[in-house]
Amino acid sequence: MQTSWLLADRSLPILIHPDTCEDDRASITWAAQKSQHIKDLVSDVGVALIRGLRVSSAEAFRAICEAIEPNLQPYTGGDSPRTGVADKVYTSTEYDASLEVLLHNELSYAGWSPNLIFFGCLQPSLTGGETHIADGRTIYERMPPRIRTQFEEKGIIYLQHLWDAKGEPGIGKSWQETFETEEREEAERYLRTAGMDWEWTDYGLRTRAAKDAVLVHPKTDQKCWWNQADQWHRDIAGVKTSFGASDDARFDPASAGEKSLGNHVVYGDGSEISADDLMTVRQVSASVEVKFPWQQSDVMIIDNILAMHGRKPFTGPRRVVVAMA
Ligand SMILES: [Fe+2]
Repeated sequence: MQTSWLLADRSLPILIHPDTCEDDRASITWAAQKSQHIKDLVSDVGVALIRGLRVSSAEAFRAICEAIEPNLQPYTGGDSPRTGVADKVYTSTEYDASLEVLLHNELSYAGWSPNLIFFGCLQPSLTGGETHIADGRTIYERMPPRIRTQFEEKGIIYLQHLWDAKGEPGIGKSWQETFETEEREEAERYLRTAGMDWEWTDYGLRTRAAKDAVLVHPKTDQKCWWNQADQWHRDIAGVKTSFGASDDARFDPASAGEKSLGNHVVYGDGSEISADDLMTVRQVSASVEVKFPWQQSDVMIIDNILAMHGRKPFTGPRRVVVAMA
């Protein structure tokens, strides 16, 4: 295989050109043979784009991912609306095509977060729909020191109040959808294992996850911006409020108080994070983003600590699937 840089002026992604892979089977065999080399590149560069495979279905995509990393995992605990399309393969997100999913580290708020994220393009959109990426090391370096120090030293706490699928519909996913179970005990088992606090309420389930906002990458030893606080703060509009019931009074913390549904985020010591600072975080992150159009059968692999990702608005049908390990 050969490698090059997709974009001359950007540190990621590295572009991997496979040897001739004329069908799914050849692509899977190639991926198995090169798995270690591919993973080494990803954990060094942050993102690799493999262009030149044949990936004709979600099943073929799953097999390619498994050939590279056999330990694929389900999306339990995630808040993005997705549909399973093959074993441990999901639609990338079902947020409306008109919306941008901002840069984030996958499941950084959850009990488990993947080391690797695989995206596969089964059908590129007509326009837009890029899965944009950004180097978390550069974001960390460019963050104003006053903001960076607070995030790094205090950490953050993700708060969410999930509605009950058996009650009135609320914002985002219900606790049953989030934890992929109907059983309270199973949701509690996830939360306990994750070290998260929780409380059952009249509305559903309130959870609290204390997390680092900056991580040191285990291989490169570099500090990486690693959170999605700007997308959880209740005073900043985000995609989570864009489906469900955005005008629902139960979501408004001003009127519903402790009974409010939805998300919020505070520093690890419980103090509030300034919404202005989070808008600065958003701007710094966006300033380093990289985007490029999907091509049919592209496979992109992201190191979930080194790099953040998002999704641009699009038109036309788009089929990008995802797996995690
Ligand atoms: Fe994501």
